[in-house]
Amino acid sequence: MTENSKVLERVALITGGNSGVGLSIASHLLSRTNSQQIFTIILACRNQKKGEQARLQLLSKYPNSDIRILEMDTSSVKSVLQAVETLDSIDRLDLLFCNAGAMPIGSLCISGIIRGIFTHPVEFFESSEALYQKRGLLSNDGLGLTFQTNVFGHYLLIHKLIPLLTRTILSDSSVNNPRVIWTGSSASQLDFSRADYQHIHGIKPYESSKYIIDQIAVPLDRKLSHYNIRCYITEPGNVCTGFLSGLEIPLFQYLVVVVFYFFRIIAGISRFTITSDCAAEASSFVAFAKEDELDPRFKYYSNVTRFGSPYVSCSPLITSVDTGAFLSSKLDALVEKFDC
Ligand SMILES: NC(=O)c1ccc[n+]([C@@H]2O[C@H](COP(=O)([O-])OP(=O)(O)OC[C@H]3O[C@@H](n4cnc5c(N)ncnc54)[C@H](OP(=O)(O)O)[C@@H]3O)[C@@H](O)[C@H]2O)c1
Repeated sequence: MTENSKVLERVALITGGNSGVGLSIASHLLSRTNSQQIFTIILACRNQKKGEQARLQLLSKYPNSDIRILEMDTSSVKSVLQAVETLDSIDRLDLLFCNAGAMPIGSLCISGIIRGIFTHPVEFFESSEALYQKRGLLSNDGLGLTFQTNVFGHYLLIHKLIPLLTRTILSDSSVNNPRVIWTGSSASQLDFSRADYQHIHGIKPYESSKYIIDQIAVPLDRKLSHYNIRCYITEPGNVCTGFLSGLEIPLFQYLVVVVFYFFRIIAGISRFTITSDCAAEASSFVAFAKEDELDPRFKYYSNVTRFGSPYVSCSPLITSVDTGAFLSSKLDALVEKFDC
């Protein structure tokens, strides 16, 4: 085999890789295995059993693939640090998907549903207005639970993995530089408060956590680019995954699917991606695009045409330099506090 035809052996780690968007990202990567590149997939999951089921599901479609399970709960510093130690045995990491995420769903908000459906139906179905989120939840580390699950656990992971990501660059110059790819979501400044940046007391901990990801992405990219690592954000659209499973209302998820299809076909709402396969399109695009086709100051969206063909669009991230600096310093201080 000549040097030019050498098979690239790339490694991708996906948090929350056992279901929904994360599992579909794994599937997209494995579908790109060919005579030039093969992937080792590491599914980072908090539940080993679910991880093993996901591994078997992927193997049934892509037999002979190298798929590994890494136990990791992003809401626990100890678990993240233990997972990083386990990763000592691998020699490269090309793609780190910070995808795990949770919304602390409490119950349905009936007044919000009635108001939303009659006054702004499309925006309503794009949002979480129909749901009350639990307030005051803390992790075992004493941090806002949703903040730690969705943001800080990943921020710590990224920082601990810089040496491994850097090693990847040194070992192979023929591939794209390593990338960190966050799964974001829509959120506005209204969902965030500096005084309670972990959103422990607020009513929208999920949106607040996703707003933080938007705000820290550019400063984080700037920091990581010193190591030739790049950082991007994608958004999967509205997708019917296990995300609403906390709401134990029979048939609710099916109703949501029907409503999404209705709006997509009738009104052409392209962000109603509905299936996790379509929702993973933007992350897959960012994983494979050449560096000069991407811009870390943009967000990459999974979209779908009225009749189900996926495509990717992008638009500039709406950020505040000041808020980004504030949050980065808070997160850096937490890394320093917990990384001992
Ligand atoms: N669904 C949507 O419409 C939508 C829209 C915008 C953005 N997103 C984002 O897409 C990402 C994936 O969500 P999804 O829609 O695919 O939902 P999902 O099927 O519920 O997947 C979420 C994944 O995150 C994992 N996870 C949750 N908390 C965790 C923790 N503490 N430690 C480790 N893993 C944890 C879950 O593990 P378990 O299986 O063990 O719970 C699961 O694998 C999330 O970041 C979400 O915010 C989703």
